[in-house]
Amino acid sequence: MSNAAPHALPPGSGLTTTKAAFIEAARARGDVYIHQPYELYSADNHATWGRLLARMHDRWERFANHRYLEGLERLHLPPDRVPRLEEINRFMKPLTGFVARPVSGYVPSYVFFDCLRRREFPTTVTIRDGARLDYLPEPDIFHDIAGHVPMHTDRAFADALVRFGECAAAAAEIASRIVDEHEKLRRLTSNIRAMSRFFWFSIEFGLMRGLGAHAPLKAYGSGLLSSYGELAHAIEAPDVARAPFTIERVVNQPFEIDHYQPLLFVVDGFDHLYALADELEDWIVQGRLDDVAAGEPAVSESDLRSFLEAGAV
Ligand SMILES: [Fe+2]
Repeated sequence: MSNAAPHALPPGSGLTTTKAAFIEAARARGDVYIHQPYELYSADNHATWGRLLARMHDRWERFANHRYLEGLERLHLPPDRVPRLEEINRFMKPLTGFVARPVSGYVPSYVFFDCLRRREFPTTVTIRDGARLDYLPEPDIFHDIAGHVPMHTDRAFADALVRFGECAAAAAEIASRIVDEHEKLRRLTSNIRAMSRFFWFSIEFGLMRGLGAHAPLKAYGSGLLSSYGELAHAIEAPDVARAPFTIERVVNQPFEIDHYQPLLFVVDGFDHLYALADELEDWIVQGRLDDVAAGEPAVSESDLRSFLEAGAV
């Protein structure tokens, strides 16, 4: 490698989120896919992982759905150091075909969804600053590996995720057939916003009914499962609204990422989630996601471009 940036790191900064020269250099080169430069993790990075993991176990026991707990057991996450993605994949791939694939940061939305379709999960390799364990606007390896990946060991969940990824291909294909440029962008923006909201309220912040008629709700969304504070809040706080997950409601529901979610949606199980992803594609094909409610999330230029390029192939 000709780029010397990793060697220009100040000592000890390791692979800390927003402070990793290795990541900055990859982004500057336009590299989305990278390798996990394991030797760059500092002692602090490893200690941060250990602290994040240790404090979650009791919360997971109480609030995580049982598929997640089974997944955790299967993955054997190391208690005292950042995991290597290869070791995660060695356990996970034989179970569902999913692999964690290291990325440099933000992945344009089509590329992200298309990775899911191929059973690849774009995975952040940096870890949050140990001085601020709780609040982090960006994903980090703890969110991606401890929050998302245990769910990917479950076949029904993995299939639902793939089904969801396939919706992006349908949206790109439909957009490619719209001749009027303005109309094409308008509808595509609405479709991407709808898919992002679906993802947010299911894969990131989803709740599921427990087993049995009066069983408490459980979390399966990774944003909840990787957050010490919000996991308990999502299940127990009286001021959180918890509504049944319907396509119509979810695709029209804006969300904000910088505070605890005041509204969450509940699915019955992973077969239900799969059926919802199926239904989402029907809605795309029927043009029923072409005018979803305005508001968050914003759809960026690069998100749009990623769909347009996919549709042009
Ligand atoms: Fe996530």
